[in-house]
Amino acid sequence: MTTTLAKAAGSVAAAAGPAPHLREDLLTPRFYTTEIAKAASTDLAGQRAAFEAMLAEMEADYNREHFDRKAPLDRLRELTAVQKEAYESYLVRSCVSEFSGFLLFKELSRRLFKASRPELGRLFQLMARDEARHAGFLNRALVAEGIEIDLPSLSGKRPITWFPLSWVLYSVFLSEKIGYWRYILIDRHLKAHPENSVAPLFDFFEPWCQDENRHGDIFNMLIRCWPELRQGLRGRLLSRFFLWSVFLTHSLTVCERGSFYTLLGIDPARFDAEVMRQTNRTARRAFPYVFTFEGTRYVQLRDQLVDTFRQMQALGEQPATPGRFLKNLGLKLRFAGLLVHQFCQPMEATGVQLEGIA
Ligand SMILES: [Fe+2]
Ligand SMILES: [Fe+2]
Repeated sequence: MTTTLAKAAGSVAAAAGPAPHLREDLLTPRFYTTEIAKAASTDLAGQRAAFEAMLAEMEADYNREHFDRKAPLDRLRELTAVQKEAYESYLVRSCVSEFSGFLLFKELSRRLFKASRPELGRLFQLMARDEARHAGFLNRALVAEGIEIDLPSLSGKRPITWFPLSWVLYSVFLSEKIGYWRYILIDRHLKAHPENSVAPLFDFFEPWCQDENRHGDIFNMLIRCWPELRQGLRGRLLSRFFLWSVFLTHSLTVCERGSFYTLLGIDPARFDAEVMRQTNRTARRAFPYVFTFEGTRYVQLRDQLVDTFRQMQALGEQPATPGRFLKNLGLKLRFAGLLVHQFCQPMEATGVQLEGIA
């Protein structure tokens, strides 16, 4: 029988409640929904050849044998309490994010079949299959740690966030590609430094990241079905907002949870910068504009944002006094100023907005 999260977390932590990294509010997957009728009206005519090739690739299911349900996922060595929490937090967050992708793709698939778009429904069904495998594998690594998350029951409590279709296309493309770069960069690092691989889970990352890469390519094809999304001010704003917000979330998460990367012998700030650079470069194939990293202050502002964020967190743990209030206000204003400054950093046109225009 599946243990409930509260029970499982309770077994890990004291009776006072689950450990901070196992709190239910962090675990509950966000559920996203979108303009289904609009999604169902996607015109594949101009992308038919690319669509058929991608559907065939997804049907071929290259990773069918890869996610072996019997492969042992027990950790290879003892960790300190801090390292153990870092590893478990990583597993929890990754598992929840994979499961959240599964929920989105499954729901889109179901609704697209219903809207008489079986070929699109099938494509989303196959992406949901991959995400379910990924979440299941991470879940097994958590079970090896003695933690059981009842994902289906958590998904019943999900808050639903509605996004316009354009937001879903831009943000999912980026989250698939950033996922690809995260997995492949960890894989490359651990192949060069196998002594830092603390768990067999990491041996599975290479073919795994190819799933994410394919999903990203599918979303690029879907963006191409809506040429107006890449043109004019709209294309410029969508590119800027989603690249900036996805990179900011990545920077704050990686730098705040740096102990996981340190455990693997990776410098968190350098890893974050490399993931951003590579994802930004990949986005050149899909978005009309990308950030310019060379010769701009983008990464420098990232350092200042992370530093201010850390100071805000440290201050939050101090007793409430008028002095703390004023200092907190100062830090918040500084943080807001840095956000605006980073958001406005220079971008360059990629040329994709001109595709399809005679
Ligand atoms: Fe995935
Ligand atoms: Fe994916």
